[in-house]
Order: sequence, then structure tokens, then C-alpha cells
Amino acid sequence: MNSKDQNVLLCTFGKEVNEGLTAFPKYLSSKFFYDELGDKLFQQIMDLPEYYLTNAEFNIFQLHKTDILKSFDTDREGFDLVELGAGDGKKTKVLLRELLEKEYSVTYHPIDISKNAIDGLVSNLEQELPSLSVQGQVGEYFEVLDRLQHISDRKKVIMVLGSNIGNLLHPRAIQFLKKLNAVMHPDDLIFMGFDQKKHPQKVLDAYNDKSGVTAAFNKNVLARINKELGGNFDLDAFTHWEVYDPESGTAKSYLVSTKKQTVDIDCLSIQVHFEAWESIHTEISQKYDDDTVKWLAEESGFEISEWFTDENKYYKNYVFKKSE
Ligand code: AVJ
Repeated sequence: MNSKDQNVLLCTFGKEVNEGLTAFPKYLSSKFFYDELGDKLFQQIMDLPEYYLTNAEFNIFQLHKTDILKSFDTDREGFDLVELGAGDGKKTKVLLRELLEKEYSVTYHPIDISKNAIDGLVSNLEQELPSLSVQGQVGEYFEVLDRLQHISDRKKVIMVLGSNIGNLLHPRAIQFLKKLNAVMHPDDLIFMGFDQKKHPQKVLDAYNDKSGVTAAFNKNVLARINKELGGNFDLDAFTHWEVYDPESGTAKSYLVSTKKQTVDIDCLSIQVHFEAWESIHTEISQKYDDDTVKWLAEESGFEISEWFTDENKYYKNYVFKKSE
């Protein structure tokens, strides 16, 4: 990433922090959890016993990798595999190994908001899968979509794994899918992971681990404001709180101020006042069922052509094709 891109990202951060902390009720976007420390914390989350999502998707890939790849490139004409929010690529590697083994003609394009994650993944793949053609990019989902069109004229399969779509409320998920649809050619596909509705306790536990990693992950956005925007948040004066609504399927995360306090953010020239027990909404992690996924797909000009699930039926990966 060049320094101009870095500045743009920093300005987005400052602008959105300003908006979210001067709004009522207060909010901060979970996309700001991810810097070098945030990436590490998220990796720890993926290793938590409570955080079932990663293992479920890993299990799907192990069970169904052959059929998944067949659904991507039935005619073996070659394709570009674009992954939005690639992270450390642990699960994707199961598919990448299979792609090489079955000698698919493919270029892998991992894209992530974290430069740190992309640099790590690209150099890791050079080591582990040297024969794979890889082109990494840094950027936000929406901003990268335009760039996508110009990658090549081959068929594209756009992957969004990890139930990352769950960070978007339905209207924004539809907006996102529509934008994808607009840049896709008729034969291009989406391959997307959707965490499924399940026992509410299981969902709550996944976002409320005993070791406190998820709390630290949420609080990392405050740490970033301190570091990057000259803030003076006392991280100990906030507590992480999780709720899950089994009706809507929405898990919501908050940071709650445990006392009345004022925080300075020098770079934004603002003071932020908190009443005792006032909240900052930090993340949504949406859970789905087939009807909801079908609805999202149809609203955005897609139909579900295939889906795959894990042994426990906790999670599903769907293949979307453009509807005729
Ligand atoms: C990476 C957005 C899918 O919402 O489950 C994990 C992030 N937040 N624990 C999720 C997360 C708290 C995760 N996603």
C-alpha cells in the first residue's frame, strides 16, 4: 500500500470515529478492529473452543472440496479466484491445495483491509504453495469492487468466507451483493459463507469467551483511537457485552462505559462524554437460515445454485449465480 492509500484509510477512520462517537446512540464499525494487534486477536478467536465458525467452515472444505471446485469451474476453462477479506487464508488453503492437485488453471486474488494480513498471506503462500499464482491487494470491500472488473477477462469466482457478510445488516448486505452483481459477468459466481441460526446459547458463547479475547478484540478499536487519533480511552473503564436475538438472528456487541467519563480525541479535536452505563455498539454478527439467504440472493439478482454444510449443520457455504 502506498502512503496515499494509507492516508485515505486513516482519514476514513477519523471521519467515521467522529461520526459514531458524536451520534446517539454511539457506535463504531467492527471493520476498525483489524490492525496488527486486531489481526492477532482475531486469530486467537478462531482458535477458541467457543468460536465454532472457523472449524465448521474448515470441515465443509475438507468434506466437500472436490464438489466445491467442480461447481466453480465445471468446464475446466480456468478462472480467477477472488477472496474478499482473506485474512490468514487458513481455510482457503484447503481449496488452494486441491486446486493445485487437480491442476485447475487459476490465479488467486486475496483482498483484505489489513495490509499486515495480505503481506503475511502472500509470503506464506510463496513458501507453502510456490506453484500457485497469487496477486494480493489491500482495500475495503466496496472500494475494491471497481478494481475487480479489470483483473482479467477470465471467469471470476468471488469468495467471502467466515460469515464476514454477517457484519452487515440486511439492507447493506443487499447493497453489497448488488454492487458485486453489477461488476460480475454472466458466468461469474459468488461463493459465500453464512453462519446458521442455532441454539442461542451456542451463539452467545462464541462471542463471549471465558478468556476475554473477544472483549480485547472489541476494545482494540478504542486502543486504535488512542494510538492513531490521539485518544485517551481507559480500556478498563469499558466492559464488553453481547446479546443475541433468536428472532432476527442478530448477535450484537457493545462496549459499555462502567462510569460517567469524558474522553479526549486530540486529532479530531473532540471530547466525548459518556454517562455511566452508556454503550458503544461495535459489531453485528448476523445468523441466517435458508429462507433468509434465498431472500438476500433474490433481492440482489442472484439465485442459489448449490450449497454445502458441515457435519453439525452449524454453517453453510452457498454458490450464487446471476439470475437470468
Ligand atoms: C469475522 C466478522 C465473521 O462476526 O463472527 C469474531 C468477527 N467478532 N468474534 C464474526 C468476530 C467477534 C467475525 N467475523
